[in-house]
Amino acid sequence: MEGFHVAIVGATGLVGREFIKVLEQRNFPMRSIRLLASDRSAGTKLYVKHEQVEVEETTAHSFEEVDIALFSAGAEISNHFSPIAARAGAVVVDNSSAFRMDTNVPLVVPEVNAEDIKEHKGIIANPNCSTIQMVVAIYPLHKVNPIKRIIVDSYQSASGIGSAAMEELVEQSKLALEGREVVPHLFPHQIAFNVLPEIDLFMDNAYTKEEWKMVEETQKIMHAPERAISATCVRVPVSIGHSEAIHIEFSRPMSPQEARQILAEAPGVRVQDDPGISLYPHPWSAAGTDDVFVGRIRKDASHERGLAMWVVSDNIRKGAALNTVQIAETMIERGWI
Ligand SMILES: NC(=O)c1ccc[n+]([C@@H]2O[C@H](COP(=O)([O-])OP(=O)(O)OC[C@H]3O[C@@H](n4cnc5c(N)ncnc54)[C@H](OP(=O)(O)O)[C@@H]3O)[C@@H](O)[C@H]2O)c1
Repeated sequence: MEGFHVAIVGATGLVGREFIKVLEQRNFPMRSIRLLASDRSAGTKLYVKHEQVEVEETTAHSFEEVDIALFSAGAEISNHFSPIAARAGAVVVDNSSAFRMDTNVPLVVPEVNAEDIKEHKGIIANPNCSTIQMVVAIYPLHKVNPIKRIIVDSYQSASGIGSAAMEELVEQSKLALEGREVVPHLFPHQIAFNVLPEIDLFMDNAYTKEEWKMVEETQKIMHAPERAISATCVRVPVSIGHSEAIHIEFSRPMSPQEARQILAEAPGVRVQDDPGISLYPHPWSAAGTDDVFVGRIRKDASHERGLAMWVVSDNIRKGAALNTVQIAETMIERGWI
């Protein structure tokens, strides 16, 4: 049998289950698959290509004879097990924040900086979901007309915190509709019928860590450490799909028509932009799909070299599982494994 021995760490989670789906749908060249999670779900059976596979507890021995290990079980697990997996001979593609800003670890969105993959020393990092969809949408424009400054406001779904947060959104909504008291667990306040400008911890500079990830990760992926970026990240009561209002200042003026033409041909991008018939991207229609959708492209009325646009993508697919699998596919296609 041809192909690679693959392991998924965090296989029972929202992203882990999506890994399985994406691998199946894209017919990834797998010789075998090992599903790993915590001791809580050891023994659980999940279907892969119509066959049941038993989930095992992740241990230091889990990576023997594994070629590619896809990690999505949080930064603590990645910090501990990724180096073990890499030493055992696997190439790790890690979906957590553990190694993203490590100078020895490539941080990759294949549509933007696939070449960086070849520098890997056993670990490759997958960026934050909100960063991925932004760079897929802005990079094709940047190649034609270098970007000077970006201001982005995100509207991020509950699934960005995992499966338990999606369930809590539904529970909170039921309680609120019944007029009963809502006690938040995974959110800092009630999220049902509300929006919260707090994702991850606040830092000394008054930004949140999520906002700072968008700044630093974008600079690293685009090889532009000086790029001026400011982000405000907001949690909204949406189940799946992150939205972003992006304001870009270019080196030269760019018309909305030119931007639409460039984006219409850009890999991984789908333009949905006809305000006359209310055609623009929104999370409900983006959920479950692979593309980064762009609409509401218009001149920024406040700046002669500015454009504004609205960008939406499924945070579990392109924001996590799909991008991770695309990194692995690129590595295989170009012989970097
Ligand atoms: N959701 C998103 O939009 C998104 C986007 C980008 C990146 N990410 C990142 O992806 C990771 C997982 O997110 P998620 O949304 O899939 O979370 P999730 O639904 O809560 O799943 C967490 C997974 O981690 C596993 N896990 C927990 N403790 C473990 C341990 N001690 N050893 C091994 N596995 C353990 C869980 O296994 P059990 O079932 O056994 O507990 C489960 O499979 C996080 O790092 C997150 O930041 C998420």
